[in-house]
Amino acid sequence: MNIAIGSDHRGLALKKQVSDILTGMGHDVRDFGAYGAESFDYPDVAIPLAQAVAGDEFKCGVLICGTGIGMSISANKVNGIRAALCSDVFAAKRARQHNDANILCLGAEREQPVREIVEAFLNTEFEGGRHQRRLNKIRNIEM
Ligand code: RB5
Repeated sequence: MNIAIGSDHRGLALKKQVSDILTGMGHDVRDFGAYGAESFDYPDVAIPLAQAVAGDEFKCGVLICGTGIGMSISANKVNGIRAALCSDVFAAKRARQHNDANILCLGAEREQPVREIVEAFLNTEFEGGRHQRRLNKIRNIEM
C-alpha cells in the first residue's frame, strides 16, 4: 500500500527506521520531510501529509516528532484525519479497531516496540458498527 511518512528534526532517525520497516514489508513509502537535521516546525510536515492522506493517494500515514503530540494535534486539524499517538501495541490495535485511525503518530524520545506498533497498526482492521456511529459524530462537525 502507499504510505506517507514525515517527521520533524527530532523524529529523523526513527523515521528512517520506520521507513525501512515499511519498505521491508513491501509498502511504497513517500517521505514528506523533514530531510535534514536542522530545526523544523512539525506543522509544516504534519498538515501537508495529513491533507495527502485525507485524499485518495495514500492508504495511511506515519508522523514522528519528539513526543508525537505536536504531530497528532496538527494532523487532527485536517478534515477526514484520525491521527493516533501510539506508544504500545495495545494502543495501535485499538486505534485501528475502534477509531479507524489513518495516521500513526510516534514519539521518537521514548522506548517503544517500534516494529510491533507499526505492524499492529497496519494489520488491524476497523471493527465498524458502534464505532462507526461514533466516528460519524466527529465527521459531522467537520466543515
Ligand atoms: C521539537 O522541539 C519538539 O517540540 C517536537 O519534536 C515535538 O515533541 C512536539 O510535539
